[in-house]
Amino acid sequence: MIPYHYEFVNSVKIVSGMSALENIPTELRAFSARRPILLTDKMLAKIGLAQKVIDACGESEVVFGALYDDIPPDSSVEVVNDITRVYHEMECDSVIAVGGGSVIDTAKGVCICITEGTDDLLDHMGVDILSRRTVPFVVVPTTAGTGSEVTGVAVIANPEKNVKMEFVSPNVLPDVAVLDVRMTESLPPRLTASTGMDALVHAVEAYTCLQKNPLSDAYAYTAINMIRQYLPRAVKDGNDREARLAMANASLLAGVAFSNSMVGIVHAMGHACGGVSRAPHGDCMTILLPYGMEYNMSAVSEYYARLLLPLAGAEVYARTPASQRARKSIEAVREMSAGYAEICGLPARLSQVGVKKEDLPAIARAAINDGAMIVNPVEADEDDVLGILEKAF
Ligand SMILES: [Fe+2]
Repeated sequence: MIPYHYEFVNSVKIVSGMSALENIPTELRAFSARRPILLTDKMLAKIGLAQKVIDACGESEVVFGALYDDIPPDSSVEVVNDITRVYHEMECDSVIAVGGGSVIDTAKGVCICITEGTDDLLDHMGVDILSRRTVPFVVVPTTAGTGSEVTGVAVIANPEKNVKMEFVSPNVLPDVAVLDVRMTESLPPRLTASTGMDALVHAVEAYTCLQKNPLSDAYAYTAINMIRQYLPRAVKDGNDREARLAMANASLLAGVAFSNSMVGIVHAMGHACGGVSRAPHGDCMTILLPYGMEYNMSAVSEYYARLLLPLAGAEVYARTPASQRARKSIEAVREMSAGYAEICGLPARLSQVGVKKEDLPAIARAAINDGAMIVNPVEADEDDVLGILEKAF
């Protein structure tokens, strides 16, 4: 059914390929920029990924104004403000982020500060209050999962108040996302699997939550199909370049889907597990997806039935009677997780990822207050969520 009203934004230019990094100078030239600040973290700098980006610009007029590699796993307001200071001091004219979710979110925060002409990000918290961005912004993702390169959201910690702040606006979308196979080749199998499963949850939730629309459906469906085909290959052989590039694309597709249609109860519970018990996001997603799907079954079984084709392939779809396809989709997700548990040790229960039994009530409470719960197809109260968490424990 087509919604009476929906909105869809994806203004990010995508450059994808085996040698996509070499296009960065051309992309900067389009904005008359030639002195970027390069943002990354210590680990990525150490394993040479930031250098790959610098080398790819070597023959061009691009001169890096600064390299800031001190971004922690949980980006914070202080870091954003510090980078903004360096950006101005070194007279940079553009931002290139090389990293995963934290680096990209930090870069989004920096772009907000530069655009708004402020030295403190806290001045600009909120939803849809940001001006149209003025600083050219290129993102090079180094994981295939978050989809941050195409989402209009930045999550940045405010340690003083012990909260994570959300900045939501199409104006934090990057100008260009560069998907280069060399950026994800060194991801170890376990991280490849858990980030890939995160992308799968983005797509499944985007396809089934209340804000879905025909465009987000197209992105989500394609993402799921690619993840089924290519994630096992990328996990088994990190040097499988076709699989790596396909997963970078699948993650981006899923990112566009959920940036426009939102996610649901699986993410609400996953965010809460991260907040209360510090459990890793991708692991929580892998564990919680089948339970979340079971909970939503009564409202969206028709969508789950359709998803059997991308989740399990044509043969399984054809030989499963229509009335059983929705259930079979949940089974297919369980089989996927079990497969990755065997190949690279992905956990199957919350108790394996640092969640304690006594944490569950607090997680349930945090989950029902999470923004993702608003568009979940079935309403849930604290007891409902606690019931799901206990099953997944
Ligand atoms: Fe996620």
